[in-house]
Amino acid sequence: MTSTILVTGGLGYIGSHTAVELMERGFDVVILDNLSNSSESVLGGIEKITGKKPKTYIGDIRDREMLQTIFKTDHIDSVMHFAGLKAVGEGEEKPLLYLDNNVTGSITLFDAIMKAEVKRVIFSSSATVYGESDTFKYTEDMPLNPINVYGKTKLKVEEILRELKKTNPTLGIAILRYFNPVGAHPSGYIGENPKGTPNNLMPYIADVAMGIREKLFIFGDDYPTPDGTGLRDYIHVKDLALGHIAALNKLEAHTDLITVNLGTGKPFSVLDLTQVFEVVSGKKIPYEVVSRRKGDVAGCFADPTLAKELLRWEALSDINAMCKDIWRWQQNKINIIR
Ligand code: NAD
Ligand code: UFG
Repeated sequence: MTSTILVTGGLGYIGSHTAVELMERGFDVVILDNLSNSSESVLGGIEKITGKKPKTYIGDIRDREMLQTIFKTDHIDSVMHFAGLKAVGEGEEKPLLYLDNNVTGSITLFDAIMKAEVKRVIFSSSATVYGESDTFKYTEDMPLNPINVYGKTKLKVEEILRELKKTNPTLGIAILRYFNPVGAHPSGYIGENPKGTPNNLMPYIADVAMGIREKLFIFGDDYPTPDGTGLRDYIHVKDLALGHIAALNKLEAHTDLITVNLGTGKPFSVLDLTQVFEVVSGKKIPYEVVSRRKGDVAGCFADPTLAKELLRWEALSDINAMCKDIWRWQQNKINIIR
């Protein structure tokens, strides 16, 4: 029998790529999204890739009645929970909004999940839940100490899931800690579409290459890293999506609670990424080094060993593919998103 997966936040960046991979593997996908950071045009991109439009509810994970309707109507086996607000700076300015959306929203969703006796839940956590590490390399058992409101909401939801598991041993739970998702679907039909000025490096570089922004501002070149700029673990969004399918397969076999890093384990600096993007796009990326951004760490990359052992998954795309795919999307998106 086909499994039905509810994808909350399924019109967003990572949710839409995961919906595509699920649909291509024969899963029935139902999307719930309130469009707070996405648009219905994403459905057109999903349809172009898969030949189908997934059933979609435009609504909020905090809406109990809507959740009840979905679980009653659609016979959901598993939930992939991507819906959330993710802008670190906005979270500092509007902590209640972030706590309500990300934490209250998740509690409301989990309550409906328990009532409907859903079998599995997969949650989008983040490497921001970790405290600082001198080696920049994170294993899942390292101390958790998020320094911003956004990261704290992710840790709170992780803790709620750990509590839920104690009283509901038959519920399979995967907590996936993403490192830096970048890239776009290789078709060029879906990708990231940040509203306003991008906060993240890759979409900012893509805007500079397009001539939408004059130059990149590099936030500090005096970090204790080989070239002085920040080191991160950039992971292709398609690999990340496949990591969710690997986690789903694992939970179908064993109703465990697993907490796993999803990263490549390979750090790249801001300058590395800028240089690769210049080659891939054939465009010059002018830059200016400015002071460090508050809250940034010098380096952060995954130890991906557990994901390999437990999920039999590893990220396959290299940094060239990530830059090529975002560049293709960057050139196409003007015609796709209206
Ligand atoms: P995104 O903003 O593109 O997607 C999130 C989607 O959820 C959006 O379509 C938005 O409209 C929807 N949404 C938000 N609040 C909702 C609510 N209350 N009810 C219904 N829908 C709601 O973000 P993304 O990059 O795809 O991230 C997906 C998840 O992964 C988020 O939970 C995010 O915190 C987490 N995450 C993202 C990153 C990253 O760098 N992109 C890193 C680590 C973790
Ligand atoms: N950077 C610049 N200039 C920019 C943007 C970024 O120099 O215009 C630098 C940053 O200082 C950092 C690196 O590029 O060294 C990466 O920054 P991003 O903003 O792209 O990513 P972060 O590592 O700061 O954070 C991202 C998400 C978080 C998530 C975290 C870990 O924004 O939500 O990855 O998963 F939690």
